Amino acid sequence: MRIGFVGTGAITRAVVTGMIRFEVPFERIALSPRNADTAAELAKLDSRVEVCASNQAVLDSSDVICLAVRPQIAADVLPALKFEPRHHVISFIAGKSLAQMREWLGDVAAVIRAIPLPAVSEGKGSTALCPPDAVARTLFAPLGAAVEVEDEHQFDALSAATATMASYFALLEEQASWLVAQGLPYASARSFLSGFQVGLAHETTKDARPYSELIGEMCTPGGLNEQVTNELAQRGTYQHYIEALERIMKRVQGR
Ligand SMILES: NC(=O)c1ccc[n+]([C@@H]2O[C@H](COP(=O)([O-])OP(=O)(O)OC[C@H]3O[C@@H](n4cnc5c(N)ncnc54)[C@H](OP(=O)(O)O)[C@@H]3O)[C@@H](O)[C@H]2O)c1
Repeated sequence: MRIGFVGTGAITRAVVTGMIRFEVPFERIALSPRNADTAAELAKLDSRVEVCASNQAVLDSSDVICLAVRPQIAADVLPALKFEPRHHVISFIAGKSLAQMREWLGDVAAVIRAIPLPAVSEGKGSTALCPPDAVARTLFAPLGAAVEVEDEHQFDALSAATATMASYFALLEEQASWLVAQGLPYASARSFLSGFQVGLAHETTKDARPYSELIGEMCTPGGLNEQVTNELAQRGTYQHYIEALERIMKRVQGR
């Protein structure tokens, strides 16, 4: 497979690194020259990775094209490029619908939307794909979990769910601050919480039990975990999450 990337920023760095590390089958990876430092760094990882002179040169030498420029410049960059009917296009560009992409790209073999997450570089990133696609699955399944959906509304919902990353860290920071207030050094609090979280995350990947079952397992009747989760539920903490996601969904869909 000859894969090209238009836009060589943070997410391209993560995806290309993951593809090399986890032995995704490819013949060649072509990178657009911006950002020059990231492109040069990736080219050093594997002799099959090459930095092209222009975005068009990436298209001309690739069959699968990953689009990874920021949404704000997509309308300027994409219509200026000449796509070919052989191009299998995978767009990482947030908030740009399949219909919008088809309008910009013209006659191409396929247009797929994808949300690769930064942990793909570690083989632990979920990637949402819409619509289901064998080529995209081959590229992203080895990098973590490839979750394929038919319906673009569902894809937008997965996109909205990725807006919870900062609040996840905020919750950890609150817990760390509380431990510090109890007299622990921040480094000890952080180390304890990180190991604790890795253990919990690992628990969720061992099988497909619903989270509700895991909650039930943690909640000994009258126990400490039951007390915390009930208190948070009664104060509307979880409901606030849902309301925030509803507002994010409106933004994601431009409503
Ligand atoms: N980061 C994530 O976790 C993530 C996850 C899923 C999807 N996405 C999507 O992926 C896209 C890229 O995100 P990112 O976080 O990787 O952004 P980023 O780090 O800003 O990368 C974008 C890259 O595009 C380059 N660029 C600017 N103008 C260009 C042009 N005319 N032609 C080619 N490349 C150009 C920039 O180069 P310079 O540095 O030289 O300006 C920059 O390196 C966005 O649409 C985003 O919504 C990101």
